[in-house]
Amino acid sequence: MMVIAARNPLRVRAAAKINLHLGVGRVRADGFHPLDTVYQAISVHDDLTVGGFAVHHLEDDLRGDLGPRVHLDLRLADHLEGSDVPSGTDNLVHRAVALLEAHHGRDLPVDLILEKAIPVAGGMAGGSADAAAALVAVDRWHSLETSDEELLALAADLGSDIPFALVGGTARGLGRGEVVTPIADAGTWWWVVVPSAEGLSTPAVYRHFDALHPDAPREPPSAATLLAALATREPLRLARALHNDLSEPAIDLRPELGVLIERGESLGALRGLVSGSGPTVVFLCESSDGAKVVAEGLRSSGEAIVLIATGPVAGAHLVI
Ligand code: C5P
Repeated sequence: MMVIAARNPLRVRAAAKINLHLGVGRVRADGFHPLDTVYQAISVHDDLTVGGFAVHHLEDDLRGDLGPRVHLDLRLADHLEGSDVPSGTDNLVHRAVALLEAHHGRDLPVDLILEKAIPVAGGMAGGSADAAAALVAVDRWHSLETSDEELLALAADLGSDIPFALVGGTARGLGRGEVVTPIADAGTWWWVVVPSAEGLSTPAVYRHFDALHPDAPREPPSAATLLAALATREPLRLARALHNDLSEPAIDLRPELGVLIERGESLGALRGLVSGSGPTVVFLCESSDGAKVVAEGLRSSGEAIVLIATGPVAGAHLVI
């Protein structure tokens, strides 16, 4: 059976993240690593639209268990063609809705369209962005009025970097990355973003870090130097302070990432860096013009997908 839905849709935008500093300590008993990290949300984003479509698949709602109550239509940007996005109940969007249902003790049927542009399995927390968008979108659609504190707690249950996807901007992450404190960041930073055709598994990169550093310190390397550089608002100072402990294991697993970083730096990028657990590589540039030169150079040298982005931008928020 089909019915006409009468309400206007809501759209929530959620940004990709990069890590300006990713200090990793020795693996904890629960399998997670203690982090001292500085996240930045950048202007590559996914959009999640909820409800209000002309045709509502009521028959799906009546099927009962969670998956079918969430109708998720996935649309990939051209540069993501062929990416392997989990479409079933494995998708973090489904898990986010299930958690909200459990929290509020009621069914929350939704029709969702997810427009993806964030590289998949790319070290940019695209799945986390989608989960954060789902928490905000479903909360608003069903007028649940979940408090910010509750949303942050649900986000932390879903994944280590999902609280940051809600908060956005520039923020420090402690614990396993889920304890987030916003950082004042008045700069506009220019980034060139180069995704890889094939993703890297985050747990595999962390495992490789463990193998390379069995004696890693219990306390992760501090973000203090990065934070001081950020406050100067000088791109060259920030470039020198960028730090990622997962760079070495990611490049060891994918040596071509090291070659890509050298190429971008020889084209004039201030610094190239693996984003999170990779394999996306980001280049900090002096200015928008600098970013254009680096992006053009990388395209000419054969990189199929090269994006230009700025940061910081907002966390998951309503755009209509
Ligand atoms: O928290 P999330 O589900 O995003 O983490 C995915 C995986 O990444 C974890 O299962 C773990 O293998 C690894 N991870 C970690 N330490 C962290 C965050 C993630 O080892 N602080």
